[in-house]
Amino acid sequence: MRIVIATIFPEMVSAVREYGVIGQAVKNRVLQIEVLNFRDFTKDKHRVVDDYPYGGGPGMVMKPEPFFGIHDYCTERYGKPFTILTSPQGIKFDNRMAKELSQKENILIFCGRYEGVDERVMKIVDTEISIGDYVLSGGELAAMVICDAVSRFVPNVVEEDSVKRDSFYNELLDYPHYTRPAEFAGIKVPQVLLSGDHEKIELYRVAESLKRTALRRPDLFLKRDFSEQEKKALIWLIRELTSNAQ
Ligand code: ADE
Repeated sequence: MRIVIATIFPEMVSAVREYGVIGQAVKNRVLQIEVLNFRDFTKDKHRVVDDYPYGGGPGMVMKPEPFFGIHDYCTERYGKPFTILTSPQGIKFDNRMAKELSQKENILIFCGRYEGVDERVMKIVDTEISIGDYVLSGGELAAMVICDAVSRFVPNVVEEDSVKRDSFYNELLDYPHYTRPAEFAGIKVPQVLLSGDHEKIELYRVAESLKRTALRRPDLFLKRDFSEQEKKALIWLIRELTSNAQ
């Protein structure tokens, strides 16, 4: 898969392809992440990417020409990309969307800036995506979030088992993790994790996931269609709670 990110701050965005599992996948060519500078697709001496808004008002608007130039560049080289504009007006990004986007061969992400982007750019944009109900100074952080979350679903970027256990993969929050030492700051690792009984450990983890989800994200818990294993884990949890109470 190839993800091209277009921005006026290429150094900032490049960090997304330099660290951790994504950095490794780029090195191994499992994933291609290319960062383009809008200014390299301007035609004037000063490489201007913004201009005053027609009709007046505060702030500047991003000019359409560099967007079309980058879209043409990507189309000629790699075929027509699925094109995203990061914007607080977009549809809200989530794990399901990340998984869906990971099926595409070729994605182009435009990072919006300033007061907005010339509306004619929408002609080449397939979808506008927001990463949450708040306003960032620009779309760079949003593009990096999208790029990272999508990349995790690309085969061989992250171990498959690890992706499946991620929070939200099954629309459940993750269970708590522990490593050595077995006791730290007076807090002991739950006995079950030291038992070596893999069936019991799995049940404990499912129960902890369900407990966290119920407490922190009741919206996800209430709409859940529980599996047989999850029902067993819930019974186990209730037993634990009632045995402590008695
Ligand atoms: N640009 C500014 N705010 C944003 C947000 N919340 N999501 C995506 N892009 C943005």
